[in-house]
Amino acid sequence: MRATATTDAPLATDADTIVVGLIEDEGIPHDLQGAPLGALVQAGEARTAFRHLAVTHVQGRRFVLVGLGRREELDAERARRAAAAVHGRAKELGTRVLCWELPHKVDDALAAALVEATVLAGYRFDRYRSGGSDDEDDQPGGIDEVIVSAHHDVAETVHRGVVGGRAQNLARELQDTPANDLTPVALGERARELAGIDVEILGRDAMAELGMGAFLAVAAGSEEEPQLIIARYDGTGDAGGPLLALVGKAVTHDTGGYSIKPAAGMQEMKFDMSGGAAVLGALQAIAALQLPVRVLAVVGATENTINGRAVKPGDIVRAMTGTTIEVNNTDAEGRLVLCDCIAYAVEQGADRIVDIATLTGGIVTALGSTYAGLFATDDALAAELTAAGETSGELLWRMPLHREYEDQMKGTYADLVNSAGRKAHPIQGAAFLKRFAGDVPWAHLDIAGTAWDTGRPYVGKGGAGFGVRLLLELARANR
Ligand code: BES
Ligand code: MN
Ligand code: ZN
Repeated sequence: MRATATTDAPLATDADTIVVGLIEDEGIPHDLQGAPLGALVQAGEARTAFRHLAVTHVQGRRFVLVGLGRREELDAERARRAAAAVHGRAKELGTRVLCWELPHKVDDALAAALVEATVLAGYRFDRYRSGGSDDEDDQPGGIDEVIVSAHHDVAETVHRGVVGGRAQNLARELQDTPANDLTPVALGERARELAGIDVEILGRDAMAELGMGAFLAVAAGSEEEPQLIIARYDGTGDAGGPLLALVGKAVTHDTGGYSIKPAAGMQEMKFDMSGGAAVLGALQAIAALQLPVRVLAVVGATENTINGRAVKPGDIVRAMTGTTIEVNNTDAEGRLVLCDCIAYAVEQGADRIVDIATLTGGIVTALGSTYAGLFATDDALAAELTAAGETSGELLWRMPLHREYEDQMKGTYADLVNSAGRKAHPIQGAAFLKRFAGDVPWAHLDIAGTAWDTGRPYVGKGGAGFGVRLLLELARANR
């Protein structure tokens, strides 16, 4: 889907469908008063109730009137939700070119939000469908272009919206692709295709040379070659500047290993690479927007499956830092992958590290799909991430760190255990990871509840691409 901005009035564009938002206690926007839309409002067919839709035809165009509720509540997230509702109806009606009239006197960020959500709502994952059904959802076609008409120039904002939306759709496509096709090697190949980014990939042998015994313990039971995907972007020219490391968990399937998961829901563990997908999506957008930042992405890709070589409960492994870990639960594999990735980022000179992972079921219980869990050793980094969450609509809720949780991760037979039961296990997971960041300011995002099936109307079912807009916003705010 293309996106453009114009200062022309909606009727002067070649859109077949024009969208007009209706705000409580405000009439039809003045520049459309010539068009007889008022009758629809008078008849009660068009209403200001949030996401209420009405359709009419005027002067050879289709108009969609959408309720935007109260002006003081109209923020970027509400704009995204409204845009998703409009997209659904417009698509049903066969719209090819959709023009949103940007509501008057709103923040420019709403233009980006409208475009983002339209691009996100237009995502379809139908590669595995053989077609031929008469199901409405199986029909090809969709919106080709979204135009934002505003009184002033919003081209830059619209561009940011479409780049962000596409990058998020890339992450969603990686998420939705099943583990038999999205192997660690396939994910590495997708990373190599990203434009404007240097990619280096290490396999089993190279990781062994670096001493990544924790990561490799997870990969031991898989026939698929694990991949440490390292991607670098430098938009600072010769200026240098701080290095932001983004570390992603990309377990392409998590069966639990010998501490095997229950059958019910195991198919969802193809989504256990969502953190890695978010990192790659964000990096793609950062590079496309040529943000003046320096980013190191480290994505740890492996399956967590079993064979005769698989790691067994009780095995003791040595991480890259030399720390020994007793693997008393092979299903607490994310932290084993991430600890070596974080140590690698430290060794590469990262000034700040943000890891993102579908780490624990406990965070789903605690926060559901509304907030992702945020853990941080650095208040400034936590504040920046929280602010980026508010701006992007990908919300974060800060959880505590405490020495007691770290003590709980101390081992009987080795330095650490990878699991100490179910008490506060999201925090214990964070406490485990913290140690590997050393003195580098570090934050951990547990996205187990927000990565897929979030119920947000603009992403619907399947991969949500959570983290792409958030990390993009972090990089953008930080330039
Ligand atoms: N990938 C899972 C976490 C998960 C669960 C993500 C549900 C999304 C939805 C992770 O590897 C895991 O299995 N975690 C364990 C940790 C425990 C053994 C300490 C968990 O959450 O039970
Ligand atoms: Mn697991
Ligand atoms: Zn996992």
